[in-house]
Amino acid sequence: MESVLAKFRLDGQVALVTGGARGIGLSIAKAFLDAGAAVALLDMDLEAAQAAAKQLEEELSLSSAVDADNLPRVIALEVDVRDQASVESAVAKLTRRLGRLDIAVCNAGICINTPALETSLETWQKVLDVNLTGVFLTACAAARQMQKQGSGGSIINIASMSAHIVNQPQPQASYNASKAGVIQLTKSLAVEWAQMGIRVNSISPGYIGTDLTLESKVLKPLIPIWTKATPQERLGSPDELQGIALYLASHASSYATGSDFIVDGGFTSV
Ligand code: NAI
Repeated sequence: MESVLAKFRLDGQVALVTGGARGIGLSIAKAFLDAGAAVALLDMDLEAAQAAAKQLEEELSLSSAVDADNLPRVIALEVDVRDQASVESAVAKLTRRLGRLDIAVCNAGICINTPALETSLETWQKVLDVNLTGVFLTACAAARQMQKQGSGGSIINIASMSAHIVNQPQPQASYNASKAGVIQLTKSLAVEWAQMGIRVNSISPGYIGTDLTLESKVLKPLIPIWTKATPQERLGSPDELQGIALYLASHASSYATGSDFIVDGGFTSV
């Protein structure tokens, strides 16, 4: 019987990660590369995605920068997850260059903090377009390719603990609603696609130190409040989501679908 550690390997598999240029997406991409997969970093910020891909390639030993079929192990592509044509074109391009698609991490997301009564329709729509419609479009484009291959696959949507609780003191109804939507979307797709062998799960991180939190003028001053409210009394780091992402991407999680996995230093347990 296959050892449990062997079940976590991703050799020969191909993954896409939206929002893969930095932060949580980049960290997950690195975990998949470490486990043997080839990875496409899809991001609106192409320059940053290309720089990240170059750095990841340098970190791989030269001999493993291409796979056994001489295909690249890591590429960067531009995508706007709000735009169906852009998403479908990116999936077609990565499939041409990397040969197939087995894993999709729908991670691109934004957070805009405004009180509900001061939130314009435009702002509301923008957050929903990236965080919820973007996940739907990416998951569907990936599932279409997986269906064509007939080999199943794993789709991982990045939700948030904000799908479960209301963050304080920052007002972010649009973000919270979009992330709650991601969890119910995940369950719906998991049920629809189970017979195709496509598993769909979500991860709900707590506060994680990335550009989204550390580089935001609005959010950064709140970090002491967040750490105080977190039983582990600190922010998480992006690499602390690698384990759950690899579990969900790999055969180690073959019976898990339609589930949400909270990783939050205990925040939602209080
Ligand atoms: P980040 O801001 O560091 O990176 C997000 C990436 O997404 C950026 O590279 C950005 O260019 C890309 N992106 C934004 N809009 C896009 C679009 N329309 N199309 C393609 N790419 C786009 O964010 P971070 O912190 O790494 O967050 C990743 C995901 O994790 C997001 O969905 C976020 O909501 C979620 N999350 C983050 C938490 C945190 O504390 N950092 C906590 C819980 C969830």
